[in-house]
Amino acid sequence: MPEIESVLHETRTFPPSEAARKKARLSSLEEYERLYRESIDDPETFFGREAKNLPWIEPFESVLDWSGAPFAKWFSGGKINASAVALDQHLGTPVENKIAFLWEGEPGDTRAITYVELHEEVCQLANVLKGRGVKKGDRVALYMPMIPELVVAVLACARIGAAHSVVFGGFSAHALRERIEDGGCSAVVTADGGYRRGEPLPLKPQVDEAVRGLKAVHTVIVVERCENDIDWNADRDLWYHVAVSEASADCPPEPMDSEDTLFLLYTSGTTGGPKGIQHTTGGYMLGAYLTCKYVFDMQEDDVYWCTADVGWITGHSYIIYGPLSNGVTSVMYEGAPNSPHEGRFWELCQKYGVTIFYTAPTAIRTFMRWGEEHPGKFDLSSLRLLGTVGEPINPEAWMWYHRVIGGERCPILDTWWQTETGSIMLTPLPGITATKPGSATFPFFGVDAAVVDEEGKEVGPNEGGFLVIRKPWPSMLRGIWKNEERYRETYWSKYGDKYFAGDGAKRDEDGYFWIMGRVDDVINVSGHRLSTMEVESALVSHDSVVESAVVSRPDDVTGEAIVAFTTLGPGIEDGDELRSTLMDHVATQIGKLARPAEIRFTDALPKTRSGKIMRRLLRDIASGRETTGDTSTIEDLSVLAKLRGDE
Ligand code: PRX
Repeated sequence: MPEIESVLHETRTFPPSEAARKKARLSSLEEYERLYRESIDDPETFFGREAKNLPWIEPFESVLDWSGAPFAKWFSGGKINASAVALDQHLGTPVENKIAFLWEGEPGDTRAITYVELHEEVCQLANVLKGRGVKKGDRVALYMPMIPELVVAVLACARIGAAHSVVFGGFSAHALRERIEDGGCSAVVTADGGYRRGEPLPLKPQVDEAVRGLKAVHTVIVVERCENDIDWNADRDLWYHVAVSEASADCPPEPMDSEDTLFLLYTSGTTGGPKGIQHTTGGYMLGAYLTCKYVFDMQEDDVYWCTADVGWITGHSYIIYGPLSNGVTSVMYEGAPNSPHEGRFWELCQKYGVTIFYTAPTAIRTFMRWGEEHPGKFDLSSLRLLGTVGEPINPEAWMWYHRVIGGERCPILDTWWQTETGSIMLTPLPGITATKPGSATFPFFGVDAAVVDEEGKEVGPNEGGFLVIRKPWPSMLRGIWKNEERYRETYWSKYGDKYFAGDGAKRDEDGYFWIMGRVDDVINVSGHRLSTMEVESALVSHDSVVESAVVSRPDDVTGEAIVAFTTLGPGIEDGDELRSTLMDHVATQIGKLARPAEIRFTDALPKTRSGKIMRRLLRDIASGRETTGDTSTIEDLSVLAKLRGDE
C-alpha cells in the first residue's frame, strides 16, 4: 500500500506526570487494564454497569443487540431523554445552582447560566416549538452562532423528541438548503447574526434564501444577537426572546426509546452530496458521558473549555451532551481566537481558570505562528489537561502545545474519532497512558480497533494499513438518513464485519496507533471535512468550467489545502479575475471553508485510458513533488508535461 507508507518516526515518550496521576480518576494501570479487558471481552457487563449511571426513565432490558448488523441496538427497552440526562438529573442536587456555561461573546459581553436556569429556558423553548406544532420524530435545523441559545435549542429539540440538525454557521445558504431539504426539517432556529472578527456575520438572510419556496418549513425562530437589518415574514418568523418569555417553563421530557433518533449531523463523504449521519439516544449519551468522565476526567471543580463550534460533532458531544451529563462548568466563546488580539483564548483561560482545554491542531499551528509572546502574557497555571482533535497533530505542534500551553505538566490527549463514531475512540487517558507526540495512542473502553490490509488481515508493527473497528460500540452511527444502501456501502462493504473508518493508520512496536490521514477523497482543511467531489461539482456548476479535479496539498497551518485543476469552456480566457470569481463561487455554493487555496487552469486533465482522472498524480503536482506513481496508463503524456510546466 504505497499510499499509506509511514515516514514519521517519533521516539519521544512522556509518562503521565505525578500531578496528573494524583488528580486523575483512574491512575492504577492494573485497574485500567482490568476495565479495558472487561469492556472488550464482556461489553455487556461493562457497558451495562456504566449505563446504569444515566437517569433512565424506564430501565433497559438488554445491553446490545447486534443481530441486525450493521445496525446496532443498544439498551433496548430503555426509555431516556437526552435533555434530562444533561439537565434534569442535576435538579435537586448541589449541581443545580452550579454554572453550566460561562459564556463570552466576541465583543466581550458575558452570561453565566446555572443548570437550573438552563433547564428553565430549555423548557420554555421546547414549549415554543410544541406550540408551533413541532413534535416527536420531526426534524429541526439549527443555524446559529456560538451563543447560549444554540445550546438551549439543541436541548429543547431533544426534550420534545424532535431530531436536531445543526448546520455550521459558515455554510452557505445553498448548503443549508440542501441539508434542510434532505432532513425534511419543518422548523429552523437561527439568529439575526453572530460576531466574527469584530463584524456581525448575518445569518437570517441566508436562512431566508435557503427556505425560499420550501413549504415544509413553517417556522423560523430568530435570536436577536447583532441587531443587523433583516427581512421579516410574519407568518413564519418569530423572535426567540418574545416567544420564550411568554412560554411556560413546565415541559416534562418526552420519554424516548433508547434507539430513537437524537440528531442528524451532515458530513462529507467520498461520493454524492453530504450525508446525514444519524445518532440515537441511549448509546450516544453513554458514549458522550463516559468519554468525558474517563478521558477528560471531569471532576466537580473543573472548568472545561472545548473551542469547537457546535456545528460539528465535537461541539455536540464535548460542549453540550458530555460535559452537561457530567455536571461540569464549561466556558463557551462566540468569536475568533484573534479578536480583538491574538491572546484572546489565553486571556479567557486565565479569566475563568480553565483546567481542561480541548482544541484542534490547526488552531495550535496558528498559535505557533502568532508566537509564544501571546500565551506568555497570561497565567495558564490552572490548566491540567490539554486535548486535541480533528486531524493528525504533527509532533512539532504537539511539543509546542505541551511546552508553551501546558507548561510541560499537562498530559496531551490526542483524541481520534469521527462524526460517525459519536465519541472519542482512540485516546490516551490522563494518569495512565505514556504519550508519544503525534500518536492517538490506544483504544478507549469497548473499542476494538485494528489496522488491516486490503484483505482485512491485521498488518505487522509499523506497517501502514486501514483503520477498522471490529465490534459495535454504544455511540456508533445508526445509519445515514434515508440512505441505508449508502451506509452499508460506505462503512461495511469493504470488510463486511468490520467498520471501515476511511483513515490510514499504523501501530508501532509498542502497539500505539498513529493516524495517517484519509484514504478516500475526503480533504481535511483546518479539521473541516470536505469531499473533493462536492468542490468539483461546485466548480463545474459555474458556466465557464467544463471539468475540474480537486486534490489536496499539505499546508503548514490548515493541515491540507484545496487545489483545483480546472478546464475552461471553449473561448473562455483564464486569468486572475476568473480565478477569484471561481473561488467566490465555491464559497457561495458550499461556504468559505471550501474556498480553494489555488486554482490551476489546464487544457486537459491527466486521465487513464478508461477515463479516470489520475488524482495521485495531481496530488504530486499540487505538492510540488516528483511524480512517483506509475504513469504508464496515462492517456496523453503531454498533459502531464504541461501541468508540471515542462512545456
Ligand atoms: O481523518 C480523521 C480526522 O478527522 C476525521 C473525522 O472528521 P469529522 O467527522 O469531521 O470529525 C472530527 C472531530 C471528531 C477522521 O476520519 N481526525 C479526527 N481526529 C483525529 C483525526 N486524525 C488524526 N488524529 C486525530 N486525533
